Amino acid sequence: MLKLGVNIDHVATIREARYRGLLHGEPDPVAAALVCERAGCHGITAHLREDRRHIQDRDIWELRKRIKTRLNFEMANSPEIVEIALKLKPEIVCLVPERRQEVTTEGGLDVDTNLSALTETRKKLTDAGIEVSLFIAPDPRQVEASARTGSQFIELHTGAFAEHFHDKKGQEIELDRLISAAKQAHELGLQVNAGHGLNYENLKTLYRVPHLVELNIGHSIVSRSVFVGLDKAVGEMLELMSDYLG
Ligand code: PXP
Repeated sequence: MLKLGVNIDHVATIREARYRGLLHGEPDPVAAALVCERAGCHGITAHLREDRRHIQDRDIWELRKRIKTRLNFEMANSPEIVEIALKLKPEIVCLVPERRQEVTTEGGLDVDTNLSALTETRKKLTDAGIEVSLFIAPDPRQVEASARTGSQFIELHTGAFAEHFHDKKGQEIELDRLISAAKQAHELGLQVNAGHGLNYENLKTLYRVPHLVELNIGHSIVSRSVFVGLDKAVGEMLELMSDYLG
């Protein structure tokens, strides 16, 4: 069964738009996470950025305390945030690029160039009992390098697929890249997640990609929740996801 991790950063973005710098404010991303869990999601994803643009430190600790599913802690490979992760002990860390030099042309992590630094962090996290995922573009060089770090997962960046969804030729090209990357990763023993820009419209087309374990979806769910409520928005996404055959 394809699992859903709900990315709640966008809830914090709305709060920060009005309450930045304060210790209170609405909407509360932790309360949102609990609603998502009650609606049946399989995990909660939150990104503690170095610039604390949306999720704050207090959110992440409160999430750790209160959620019952898996915490997927998205983070840059920076010493400050690695220290936090080692104390926080999420079930899984997804390493993502935040600085220009860590980003490949397609927008994922440049694992190939940063192989030794990422491998070192992967080892620290493994020693702390935390699984590791690398957010990468569907590029064979990056998939191969990801396997060399010893990470258990990759998360395929679906941003280009989402961006080209309404252009038939572009969509085909991006879908083929995702299909090849998923097959290559599976052969190398990596588990395959995917995320970024996925929504109620483009999801079914993505199902041509094999070996998917979990999708991390935020923006479309939070957007839909404005009209139907968060529990229904999560429920509708789960309903769509039940059609994935692997
Ligand atoms: N996965 C990763 C690694 C991300 O950085 C994001 C965006 O915060 C997502 C998934 C979710 O993307 P979206 O909010 O577009 O669904």
